[in-house]
Amino acid sequence: MKLLVTAGPTREPLDPVRYLTNRSSGKMGYAMADALARAGHSVLLVSGPTRLEVPDGVDFLPVETAAEMFDAVRRHIGRMDAAVFAAAVADYRPAAAASQKIKKTGETLVLELVRNPDILGSVRDEFGFNGTLVGFAAETENLEANARDKLQRKGCDLVVANDVSKPGIGFDSDRNEVLLVFPAHSEVLPEDEKHHLAPRIVREIERLAAERASA
Ligand code: CTP
Repeated sequence: MKLLVTAGPTREPLDPVRYLTNRSSGKMGYAMADALARAGHSVLLVSGPTRLEVPDGVDFLPVETAAEMFDAVRRHIGRMDAAVFAAAVADYRPAAAASQKIKKTGETLVLELVRNPDILGSVRDEFGFNGTLVGFAAETENLEANARDKLQRKGCDLVVANDVSKPGIGFDSDRNEVLLVFPAHSEVLPEDEKHHLAPRIVREIERLAAERASA
């Protein structure tokens, strides 16, 4: 199969020396890209800035902002059989990036932020993607209900949900515990290395893609 994987955080510029970002390390998305390539699939990894090495055999398209990630996905999604959206995309960006460094003046500074496009949420209706679609959900409460809501709203076949309030797993960790949320059921994958969880999730994606192909 041909697959697109998004990974890592995005970086939203405030001025030439500052940006807004989040704590995503990119590890889960890179583990997915690696596991997919090892399983013999052709993978395009669209990634925000991370410290990670690009897995062997994976095509790499680096981006910084959510807008750049949106454009990269829009350009490439048409030829994909499946897509895995593991990136932690910034929901908002500064309304304007100052062309010069912002100097300190008052005691407080109010930033105006505007909504970024929802990349995963654009894939079905706006980009007309008909392949297998996998989203991720990082939640701090109501894990299954929030993930199931995302699954339906964004037209996914699977949402991989994790509880980012649990210590030692998720953001920046090598370990994770995930809940696989499918349209008709869900299944817990107990805590393990991200590199062990990823091949398990790959098998689910292969199964979903085969089901879609025979439907
Ligand atoms: N995502 C994306 N583009 C965005 C935001 C999220 O592609 N601008 C993708 C992520 O890669 C992930 C899923 O959507 O696969 C997570 O969505 P999230 O933003 O957590 O869901 P929402 O329900 O839209 O947002 P929130 O929980 O913040 O209400």
